[in-house]
Amino acid sequence: MLGKLLTRFLRGAPAPAAPAPAPAPGDADNPLFEYFLDNPGRLIDKWHHYLEVYHRHFARFRGKSPVIVEIGVWQGGSLQMWHDYFGAGCRVVGIDIDPRCLEFADANTTILIGDQGSREFLATVREQVPRIDILIDDGGHFVAQQIATFEELYPHIQPNGVFLCEDMHSSLWRRFGGGVRHEGSFLEYSKALIDSLSAWHSEEPELLSVNRFTESTFSMHFYNSVLVIEKRPMAYPGHSRSGARAF
Ligand SMILES: C[S@@+](CC[C@H](N)C(=O)[O-])C[C@H]1O[C@@H](n2cnc3c(N)ncnc32)[C@H](O)[C@@H]1O
Repeated sequence: MLGKLLTRFLRGAPAPAAPAPAPAPGDADNPLFEYFLDNPGRLIDKWHHYLEVYHRHFARFRGKSPVIVEIGVWQGGSLQMWHDYFGAGCRVVGIDIDPRCLEFADANTTILIGDQGSREFLATVREQVPRIDILIDDGGHFVAQQIATFEELYPHIQPNGVFLCEDMHSSLWRRFGGGVRHEGSFLEYSKALIDSLSAWHSEEPELLSVNRFTESTFSMHFYNSVLVIEKRPMAYPGHSRSGARAF
């Protein structure tokens, strides 16, 4: 398949403004990469390496009728891509501040219009979307919006679901409320969550103790501009030894 993809890449795919993406090692068997190159639908805007990241963390949901919520609909192209990737039975919920996106609603696609920076609006999302398997934040990219979205919707994602925030380089930009190592950026906020993953072992409970995030999170994955958090019900980890002692 990689050869086929390379051929397409060399001959030039019908890309919109940017050059066609070159396949990364993880794209050899990535249906998202193939879809993106030959996009039969509406416009999609993605940094190339995001396709590999998606496939890494989303593949286990294919064919399982998941509920995908994407904040940031724009031209509606990525909503079509999710339907193609996850297959029949998948429900896609697109959230955008632009009411023109309502035209992308259909039998399997719900569009909600609102501001992801508003906690009141996000509370209505919880009511209107009782189940979320995957949440993708590709909306306004202001760090305050990303933090509000994470705080209001992360606990609402299914116990084995996935949270993905993209374009986190906005945390490096002052005009988006960030700046390098700027306290209060979503990047710094999420770095602090790393400690909570291992809070089971904290000897200083006044500084770090097990919380809801510890008990509901299996892993955090930082990529260029992307954070993926995989949920899983967690308890104090088991530990044992096996094999013969050497000395
Ligand atoms: C980068 S585009 C989304 C691209 C789309 N996900 C794709 O892959 O093709 C960002 C979208 O977020 C929307 N947006 C901006 N601020 C928002 C906010 N505060 N709440 C919800 N959506 C917002 C914009 O209207 C725009 O459609």
